[in-house]
Amino acid sequence: MELEGKTVLITGGGSGIGAATARLMAEGGAAVALAGIPEAEAAAVAAEINAKGGRAIAIPTDVTDEAAVEAAVAATVAAFGRLDCAVANAGIQRHKTDVNLPEMDMTEWERTQDVNLRGVVRTCKHALAQMIAQGGGGSIVIVSSITALSGRSGNVSYMTAKSGLLGLNRHIAVHYAKHGIRCNAVCPGALEQTPDWDEHPNPAGRKEMMEQAIPLGRLGTSEDIAPMIAFLASDGASYATGGQFVVDGGVTVNA
Ligand SMILES: NC(=O)c1ccc[n+]([C@@H]2O[C@H](COP(=O)([O-])OP(=O)(O)OC[C@H]3O[C@@H](n4cnc5c(N)ncnc54)[C@H](O)[C@@H]3O)[C@@H](O)[C@H]2O)c1
Repeated sequence: MELEGKTVLITGGGSGIGAATARLMAEGGAAVALAGIPEAEAAAVAAEINAKGGRAIAIPTDVTDEAAVEAAVAATVAAFGRLDCAVANAGIQRHKTDVNLPEMDMTEWERTQDVNLRGVVRTCKHALAQMIAQGGGGSIVIVSSITALSGRSGNVSYMTAKSGLLGLNRHIAVHYAKHGIRCNAVCPGALEQTPDWDEHPNPAGRKEMMEQAIPLGRLGTSEDIAPMIAFLASDGASYATGGQFVVDGGVTVNA
């Protein structure tokens, strides 16, 4: 995987899939900008990468704030000279409150849409603008979910937002190919922990149920997902655009 000389911006880079992707891409030679909240988490991952001889910066960024997202892209370019890849990964999952649509408080619905759908739109918007301004070329990776591929999830705003991301992915792939920009979506399966894991109502039950449903027999890890993201960001994936790449231990095809 050739990432030497590439510059990547990763939202939600302070933990989980984003942090694992940052570590892997930095090992592959990329300069990494970790844009996310809380600030301390992104800063800790950046410090770890720099201590190992990599190149990383942390940029406190709330993806619900468009000015902050625009500033994160600008800070990446100021630090590393250009933007080659953007990984739109930040997400939340309100396990307890993003349920029961007929009774749902619409502020809960909006909260998830604002991070998981509009946050990715903001990230793609400003990444595209920068990639076009610097002469074209570049790769965007959108982190969706296998929840976008079935109706099974009880978290209705979450799965609706993740489904919308697949449409956004197709739009960018078709309309920005003329600028040499690729866009792909990764659909992770059920990992050992999800966003907002401390709110999950039944972690043990989920583990047991998923281990039976997943043909490979285990929940995934962030490190299982990071290589697919890093590959799609790299020139090795130069003919891949508009794709939906499922990494789920086989659970989606086991229905
Ligand atoms: N873990 C899973 O089982 C799973 C499965 C499918 C998809 N995903 C998706 O993968 C992505 C990463 O999730 P994860 O599993 O690494 O969980 P995570 O909670 O470790 O990562 C999400 C990151 O986004 C950050 N974030 C939340 N709100 C933000 C905001 N407003 N602005 C900026 N950053 C914000 C969090 O602080 C965190 O660092 C998410 O989009 C999630 O929906 C996860």
